[in-house]
Amino acid sequence: MNRRRAWDAERAVTVVLAVLIAACGPAPTSEPPPALGQPLAGLQEREQGRFLLGKAVFERLATEEEGLGPLYNAPRCSGCHDDPVSGGTSGVRVTKATRWENGRCDLLHDVGGDNIQQLATSLLRARGMGPETLPETANNRAVVLATTLFGLGLVEAVPVAALERFADPEDRDGDGISGRLGTTEAGSPGRFGRKADVATIRDFVDTALRFEMGFSTPDHPFEERVNGVAIPPGADPMPEPEIDDRGVDLLAEYLRYLAPPPRTEASSEAEADSIRRGGAVFREVGCASCHVPELRTDRHDIAALSRVPVPLYSDLLLHDLGPALAGVCGPGASPTEHRTARLWGLGSRRVFLHDGRASTLEDAIDLHGGEASEARSLFSILSAPDVRSLILFLRSL
Ligand code: HEC
Ligand code: HEC
Repeated sequence: MNRRRAWDAERAVTVVLAVLIAACGPAPTSEPPPALGQPLAGLQEREQGRFLLGKAVFERLATEEEGLGPLYNAPRCSGCHDDPVSGGTSGVRVTKATRWENGRCDLLHDVGGDNIQQLATSLLRARGMGPETLPETANNRAVVLATTLFGLGLVEAVPVAALERFADPEDRDGDGISGRLGTTEAGSPGRFGRKADVATIRDFVDTALRFEMGFSTPDHPFEERVNGVAIPPGADPMPEPEIDDRGVDLLAEYLRYLAPPPRTEASSEAEADSIRRGGAVFREVGCASCHVPELRTDRHDIAALSRVPVPLYSDLLLHDLGPALAGVCGPGASPTEHRTARLWGLGSRRVFLHDGRASTLEDAIDLHGGEASEARSLFSILSAPDVRSLILFLRSL
């Protein structure tokens, strides 16, 4: 049997699929909204099938015989995206390093790239190499927490023009908040990744396969280098690419069909009032200037993604939050610029900000600086009941 087919999703999960479809039944087409980790409501049967197949690939533990490594950070996607369910975040932190000089970002490709892989397969270690070390030429680093992946299909379906409407790179309106569209390494508009440097879900899947799991892909059919040094013969015997187009497509479709987090119902009338008040406070202190409550998708071939609201609480643009939150740079972003975090699903999260350094929402807000300084100042003089309402509101999103 061809070992390369070992990661062939369809063969591996046909049985699982039959069982899962029987267990889940068709996705609900009306209220209540899909629970965390479920597919979008209103998907066609074929799309639901692809969702389940893709989910199985996402959760599948890969071995080095199948193409994992030789450098990697975890042996499966869900290893970093499973809290509280598949598609979520996790406690794993990925180490990144870059060089920022004269307003330009160097992703350090010649010494192994910005993702410092923490693990090496036994075959590589047996040859005395790996894992990676921080390149000496790096002048900034960050430990980055995995984002949640819920609702990414909706995020992808928002037209670039809608994001451009919020951008104000020169701050012409003088409100202290600029906001720039992120750019990919190739120079096109980006929206995925914390530096908004990836344009599509499929491109991010390709990146994650290569940098987090060490899989060569049809778009990049070669192995990464270990801090810039080619891997020795025999350290990775699998022929390239180690995953085929079908596997990459299934992963992308799983994420495209993953429903956004449902809002949390208030447990009493008083709580509902407080959440409403919190929403008003959120707008009054200027949080909504960056955390734009709702965007809209364009017409889309997938009916469930066509012309629907996207209540993500982000403009998907880059903002400078000041030196306290500095991390690595990106192709179109300085070390202090970050894509506005989506606030939907905050209720299921435990730590906040790109590196997870804040363990309460209050701390996360306190650490906002730069373009968000005024909003943070207004937050700091809110009355205690208003702060409580704001936090309740954030937790309900
Ligand atoms: C070792 C941990 C790790 C593994 C394994 C991992 N990821 Fe991630 N993922 C991250 C981190 C960290 C980020 C945020 C990085 C960034 O944005 O720069 C992320 C972000 C993403 C995003 C971007 C979401 C957004 O907010 O724009 C997608 C899509 C994604 N991962 C998909 C995958 C897929 C598919 C796999 C498996 C092939 C995978 N990830 C495996 C850690 C991981
Ligand atoms: C100038 C734009 C801007 C303003 C104004 C702003 N934020 Fe943010 N916010 C961001 C960016 C960018 C991030 C991502 C920072 C990071 O990951 O380190 C973020 C992150 C967050 C997070 C962490 C989310 C997560 O997933 O970890 C919370 C919570 C948050 N903001 C709430 C607020 C609240 C509440 C206000 C109003 C008091 C506010 N923000 C005002 C841009 C802004």
